[in-house]
Amino acid sequence: MKKKVKKVSKKLIKSKKTHKKDISKPSKKNIQKKQVISPKILRKKKIVIGNWKENPATSEDVKNIISGVKSVVKDLKKTDIILCAPHAFISQVSSSFSKNLNKNVSVGAQDLSVKKGGSFTGEVSGTMIRSVGATYVIIGHSERRAVGETDEIVNTKLLLALQSDLKPIVCVGESVRDDQGEYLSYIKNQIKSALNGMSPKYADKIIIAYEPIWAVGSKEMQTVSPYEMHQMSIFIKKYLIEILGLAPATMVPVVYGGSVTAENAAAIVGEGEADGVLVGRESLDLIKFKQLLKNVDLVK
Ligand code: 13P
Repeated sequence: MKKKVKKVSKKLIKSKKTHKKDISKPSKKNIQKKQVISPKILRKKKIVIGNWKENPATSEDVKNIISGVKSVVKDLKKTDIILCAPHAFISQVSSSFSKNLNKNVSVGAQDLSVKKGGSFTGEVSGTMIRSVGATYVIIGHSERRAVGETDEIVNTKLLLALQSDLKPIVCVGESVRDDQGEYLSYIKNQIKSALNGMSPKYADKIIIAYEPIWAVGSKEMQTVSPYEMHQMSIFIKKYLIEILGLAPATMVPVVYGGSVTAENAAAIVGEGEADGVLVGRESLDLIKFKQLLKNVDLVK
């Protein structure tokens, strides 16, 4: 496994030193680079990601969700939507949204194989996912980690996703919060190992999703407070600066997931300063999801 990981990473690994040199020396080339980077730093659009998980049951149900999302999408001015469907429905979702009329809608998968292809029954590779229209893929969701996905697997999948021209949505999050702040090192380590061997030049392709396990699927719809999200967002972004460098780190959106609802989403992206939200259950309830999209879009 280790050998394979190394092979996969080869193309993606570029010396961090070289990158740092690029952005710190005020040569003509660097000034141009900064001009390219600046609009992304000033990113105003929020991201709403719907993670359908193992839902809905049929292709007919997918049709209903699509027409519901379509009915609200044209009114959204500042929100990008990523619909992460089960593999079976990716093609259907992707062909239902026009590349020209629905520029703010993208399709994502919820996982990809740890292999590029071959005799691995039931697995779906990044290349296959990309070829049926997905441009994003969730990696390291707590529900996959719970069935044995290790940090090393998450890292291999991230590198394979980038190689397949897919943008990884990397999930991190603690199972409990302790008073000593141990959970912060836990999150740092998850990010560190997920991005291991990734060149900073891929920073604009990734999204970090902070999804505390205690909030995912919580019956009481327990979430972080906007204040806690703001703290976490600063913490993650500061760490990304450490490992990727300033300019690349500013391109990485940090979104929140775990019991996001139409009621709490606006505060999480507003006061909480999350770059977006990752929504499970409410992304399947059309009335609530449409309201959630509208609420997020109204956040200044
Ligand atoms: P819920 O919004 O249902 O808590 O799920 C969150 C999640 O796991 C999104 O990836």
